[in-house]
Amino acid sequence: MAYTLEAFCNDARSLLQADSGAAGVEHVRKKMEILARDPGFVAEHFNNGVKYGPRRLFVDPVLGFEILGYRAEKARHSPAHDHGDSWALYAQVHGYTEMTEYNRLDDGKDPDHAKLGIKAQYKLEQGQVGTYWGSQLHSTYTPVDCCYLRVTGTDLEKRPRVRIDQNTGKIMK
Ligand SMILES: [Fe+2]
Repeated sequence: MAYTLEAFCNDARSLLQADSGAAGVEHVRKKMEILARDPGFVAEHFNNGVKYGPRRLFVDPVLGFEILGYRAEKARHSPAHDHGDSWALYAQVHGYTEMTEYNRLDDGKDPDHAKLGIKAQYKLEQGQVGTYWGSQLHSTYTPVDCCYLRVTGTDLEKRPRVRIDQNTGKIMK
């Protein structure tokens, strides 16, 4: 049976209202796998005519979680970053994302530099969904025409976040 963005939004709201913790987010992650693999959803929201860059697809008026679609015009390495105090779910829709997760090895006292250690490196392949808790540092490599769907507990742009150049350790302001 087809699964639509609207149905996913309603399911996510109910699931998070019932449990806004890790178990609720895991239920939403499983629904997101179904959505990211739905041919009708992909054809409507990730066809060759959609614009490059991020698109906000939905903001929940009750809980404030938001859904963003992204299509990469160019290959890109992101800096290491966290998501402030929000969780994030990344679903791969086209192509793949190379994901690197980091541990911070310094004591956090230097405001300009951090020391990062690689905790995990893996590829998110089409149809896979990864969960990233607020303070989990990670960086991504996304190839041309990589498309993904991101659900976050809140609007990330409104939260303080950490960004670190993973090659030099410089904390970006
Ligand atoms: Fe991220």
